Amino acid sequence: MSDKFIGKWVFPSDDSLLEQSARRGERYNFENIANDIIDKVHFEPEDIVMDLCCGNAALAKYVSKTCKEIHGVDHSEHLIRTANKIKEKESISNLHLYLSDAMNIDKLFREDFFDKSYCYFSFQYFNKRKRELLLAQLSRVTKRKGWIFLGDIPDKTRIWNFYESPKKFYREKISRILQFKEGECNLGWWIDPKEIVQWCDSHRLNVSIMPQDKNMPHAHYRFDVLIRNSK
Ligand SMILES: C[S@@+](CC[C@H](N)C(=O)[O-])C[C@H]1O[C@@H](n2cnc3c(N)ncnc32)[C@H](O)[C@@H]1O
Repeated sequence: MSDKFIGKWVFPSDDSLLEQSARRGERYNFENIANDIIDKVHFEPEDIVMDLCCGNAALAKYVSKTCKEIHGVDHSEHLIRTANKIKEKESISNLHLYLSDAMNIDKLFREDFFDKSYCYFSFQYFNKRKRELLLAQLSRVTKRKGWIFLGDIPDKTRIWNFYESPKKFYREKISRILQFKEGECNLGWWIDPKEIVQWCDSHRLNVSIMPQDKNMPHAHYRFDVLIRNSK
């Protein structure tokens, strides 16, 4: 399959919405994850929201109930097709879907289009150069004083909470290099929260690094970020 996500970063063994979005196991629950995002971002009924890298829209489905419009962008044909099926089946009329690379959001949307933007469990699939470009684009398409939320990012400073041994990590890393695969491991890139703080400081955006609630499935090695778009 030539899909840009399925078969490249994830290899689901069936049509499970969880497996499609790289979640294996019963500890995952889309409604709980969506509620965590909703609690942190505080969407308002008049808000125009972007779900960047929306995948199959299993989270956008819940967020759509809390805002006026939600625009989901993803480069996976398979996942956008599934998202469209969910939209139709559940009559989610305020959900708009775009098959596009995230790096094109400034062409898809005009400046200041969104009140709030979020990108969940996805920022780690971009290398450092692209992460910085993406932050700049998110800031551009989100209104001044709006909010940008980046969720579920693997924390480089807690990498050994995830791997049992450095050997396993380096084996994965070398294997990806030899196969010319993107990312330093199967999770994408490990990111130091300081990198995001420094970028925000240099662009004068207020930023908070948020630890995840310990009931969240990845709390021991991932973090969230909330940016006030004080551009
Ligand atoms: C682990 S899934 C998470 C999906 C969704 N945010 C969620 O939490 O359920 C990562 C998503 O990022 C998308 N993605 C990765 N790189 C992308 C890119 N360059 N442009 C658009 N989407 C991308 C993938 O297609 C996939 O849907």
